[in-house]
Amino acid sequence: MKITIFGSGYVGLVTGACLAEVGNDVLCVDIDADKIATLQKGEIPIYEPGLQKLVVHNIQAGRLAFTTDTVAGVAHGLFQFIAVGTPPDEDGSADLQHVLAVADTIGTHMENYRIVIDKSTVPVGTADKVRNKIQSVIDQRGLKMEFDVVSNPEFLKEGAAVDDFMKPERIIIGTDNPRTTELLRALYTPFNRNHERIFVMDVRSAELTKYAANAMLATKISFMNELANLAERLGADIEQVRIGIGSDPRIGYHFIYPGCGFGGSCFPKDVQALGYTAKQIGYQADLLEAVKAVNNRQKEVLFNKINRHFKGELKGKTIALWGLAFKPNTDDMREAPSRTLMESLWAAGASVQAFDPAAMDETRRIYDKQPGLTLCESPMDALVNADALTVVTEWNVFRSPDFSKIKSALKTPVIFDGRNLYDPPHLSREGFTYYAIGRGNLLP
Ligand SMILES: NC(=O)c1ccc[n+]([C@@H]2O[C@H](COP(=O)([O-])OP(=O)(O)OC[C@H]3O[C@@H](n4cnc5c(N)ncnc54)[C@H](O)[C@@H]3O)[C@@H](O)[C@H]2O)c1
Repeated sequence: MKITIFGSGYVGLVTGACLAEVGNDVLCVDIDADKIATLQKGEIPIYEPGLQKLVVHNIQAGRLAFTTDTVAGVAHGLFQFIAVGTPPDEDGSADLQHVLAVADTIGTHMENYRIVIDKSTVPVGTADKVRNKIQSVIDQRGLKMEFDVVSNPEFLKEGAAVDDFMKPERIIIGTDNPRTTELLRALYTPFNRNHERIFVMDVRSAELTKYAANAMLATKISFMNELANLAERLGADIEQVRIGIGSDPRIGYHFIYPGCGFGGSCFPKDVQALGYTAKQIGYQADLLEAVKAVNNRQKEVLFNKINRHFKGELKGKTIALWGLAFKPNTDDMREAPSRTLMESLWAAGASVQAFDPAAMDETRRIYDKQPGLTLCESPMDALVNADALTVVTEWNVFRSPDFSKIKSALKTPVIFDGRNLYDPPHLSREGFTYYAIGRGNLLP
């Protein structure tokens, strides 16, 4: 099948590479000429396990190509995916300018029937806006042409995106027109062999399903962080509580890890955008507001612990920081808790020596020439002459470090762990002052 994908970011690139891998003829379009030039060379501008190999393999097989030529893009695919960014606007709503720009492009250049598939995360009602935009442009051209608009939200997780796309838990197809269902089913057949994963529903429900999923996951995290803060003050250990509640199958063990707050390109903006949608229709979504507020507060927890430990005297202190990406296996720094922490430390006069297995370039791009930031070659380099270690991202490489080496490299043996990676009694035996999240019995 011939497929065009507008937007070659995390979602567009993974979608393009995976659809090419199963034999389709895919053309990826992006307005970022540098990104396209990089991709044409078979290099990928993001860190995503398994993706580079897939991209190179499919370019060589002639099934995957990249271009900035939007006219060629519209001419190429019967299926026209929209996978561009929907960042938060100033008021918290999802900014649809890129989505609607693609709709405009498709309406301007299409010459025959097209299925427009919205893969970006967009508020309920966006498919109608896309349809209206395309229709108005076709009308302006004085032509009559058929097209369909389908909502097909993406649920991949950065860090496991290729696997998630190849073996999805669900494929949501939101369409108000049965003729597209058959074509979309055919498109997704290679990913639907093991058992039925395709759920066909109306467009608005499909659009809302994506927000519901992210809001639910964000709620689980904020709930656990709220409980962690309570546990800390009550002298309980949230890790014991987690195990205790997770054993109830109605609750389950997934996604109930306490930590130093959620970040990334999706949860914060999607919770906010859903809240905005609610406000627009006059509904007060109290729970969503609380999820956001708890998370904003949680992102300050590590700084507050560090500040308290050093009795407010952070000027001139050096803090080693392990983990910059918002989660492991990605280089994505969008809304990362590490950013909140570093910015608070800098404001308090401390400096940061940081290491991340994948996000160093991205950090350099964001904080170019930031005084008070040293990016180090290895986790151990980050510790040299630092006053304390802070763990912000739970990369595997940080899970079982050599504590005696850490102790001899640090000026004082103090660890602030934003991900509860270590065993408190063990660290205490090793001679560390150890601060974790919600493990109140360990507060000095
Ligand atoms: N990143 C994720 O984990 C994830 C998961 C599921 C859904 N989503 C959603 O998917 C969408 C894309 O997210 P992303 O993380 O891939 O974004 P991204 O910022 O990584 O990529 C978006 C790309 O779109 C390009 N673009 C912008 N306007 C364009 C246009 N008019 N024509 C062609 N290309 C254009 C940009 O240059 C950029 O390369 C968002 O709505 C996001 O919420 C993201």
